[in-house]
Amino acid sequence: MMKYAIVFSSKTGNTRALAQAVARALPQENCLYFGPPAQEALRAPVVYAGFWTDKGTCDSDTAAFLSSLTTQQVFLFGTAGFGGSAAYFDKIMDAVQAHVPSSVRVIGRWMCQGKMAQGVRLRYEAMEDSPRRTAMLENFDRALSHPDSTDLAEIQKAVQATQ
Ligand SMILES: Cc1cc2nc3c(=O)[nH]c(=O)nc-3n(C[C@H](O)[C@H](O)[C@H](O)COP(=O)(O)O)c2cc1C
Repeated sequence: MMKYAIVFSSKTGNTRALAQAVARALPQENCLYFGPPAQEALRAPVVYAGFWTDKGTCDSDTAAFLSSLTTQQVFLFGTAGFGGSAAYFDKIMDAVQAHVPSSVRVIGRWMCQGKMAQGVRLRYEAMEDSPRRTAMLENFDRALSHPDSTDLAEIQKAVQATQ
């Protein structure tokens, strides 16, 4: 079995929860690195890379890290505030994958919704009533429980499939 690294960027803990679930799903003795983007992680032939979504793509720390990959295999995972559409997640993943050099094989991609800060809801509440405002509030409230135990079980299944 190949050695691996779990590299993740997480401001409010959502992506960290996914990273911890990934760690529990893989044989611990083969883990070379678990933590934020760092050069040390590049020693592993397989990298599980987690990001939080910032303006439609991954956060900039993750983007820089992905660009530094050379011959590794990478599994991309992340969280985003907006959910409910596979097409939306695909679009984010494509933008993230654009940071991965073409020499690097992408062995999997997995995403789910992640709760947002309460200030975001206050901003929506202050908007004039409209179908868009209602949809944003509904989305915000739907995100509150994520990542949930079903999300964690799903990502664990997805990473185990790479073993
Ligand atoms: C500055 C900023 C920009 C964001 N941009 C997006 C975005 O473009 N699309 C989206 O779906 N969520 C966006 N979000 C929501 C976060 O990606 C989401 O809450 C994520 O789960 C946070 O992950 P973390 O807890 O690991 O930091 C943004 C959040 C912040 C703070």
